[in-house]
Amino acid sequence: MKKQLLDFSKLTESDIYQLIEKAKAFSTATKPIFKFNNTAALLFYENSTRTKISFELALKRLTIPYVDLNINTSSEKKGETTLDTLLTLGAMQVDTFIIRHKDDNLIFDLADKLCDKFHFINAGSGMRAHPTQALLDVFTIFDSKKSLTDLSIAIIGDLKHSRVVASLLQAFKLCSIGDIRLCAPADLAVSKPTIGSYTADLKEALQDADVIITLRVQKERLQQGESINLKDYQAYYRLDKKMLAYAKPDAIIMHPGPINRDIEITSEVAYGPQSMILKQVENGVYMRQAILEWLYGTQL
Ligand code: NCD
Repeated sequence: MKKQLLDFSKLTESDIYQLIEKAKAFSTATKPIFKFNNTAALLFYENSTRTKISFELALKRLTIPYVDLNINTSSEKKGETTLDTLLTLGAMQVDTFIIRHKDDNLIFDLADKLCDKFHFINAGSGMRAHPTQALLDVFTIFDSKKSLTDLSIAIIGDLKHSRVVASLLQAFKLCSIGDIRLCAPADLAVSKPTIGSYTADLKEALQDADVIITLRVQKERLQQGESINLKDYQAYYRLDKKMLAYAKPDAIIMHPGPINRDIEITSEVAYGPQSMILKQVENGVYMRQAILEWLYGTQL
């Protein structure tokens, strides 16, 4: 059985702390400390800037060879299935698949069928999971606050369509973070969150928060019958300087990106002194190096 990172269901709290420690080590390491006998393939069926490039940089920094399949010019456009794509690349000794797909379950089904042959890393599956983003976020919080316990964390925005939130809540639950405030207009709330308390009131969510995670309004994921009034959203949920004053003075601001400037967050706050948004991007490379090493590295 090959190792996989699909969501947090097979991870423990100690795995998360181990990955944080490894990511921290990669943030200061200048040369590779592990050796790999693997070849990876990036299969991105959905748009991506930071996740895809950070995986590429992580692979390059670890000197792991990889291919980046251009889905639009691949044989899938001639009717080949994704399963057959994987078997084809596998015949060329690719043994690790890093996949982003709009389908919630595709990577889970593929990993189930091919778990003896290939490693799988979920780079975002539908609205279901985005574990590597959640891990880099937890790393960023830990690195800045030096602990995960006793924090008040506000998560604001389109909770309903966010795979980042789905994974973050799983990670926060494993790490026993008690005070999670989930804030969204009622029609963008999570129906039954496994952790945290819901409020529609932004001020209440922000009151004395240590960490504020804002989210993109995911217009492309609105389903039939769903709509969003951006003017109302901006009026009641946008994080600006005035709203930020409700949080603790040393609160950090995060966003998985990409941001919709001035819709969910003002430019001033997104690039202000409390913002960790670009730090998250930087940490994404270290965390993805850590994940690859955790999956199959052997110490040199
Ligand atoms: C997120 C995603 O794709 O789920 N972005 C990311 O990976 N950094 C969030 C989003 O698209 O809003």
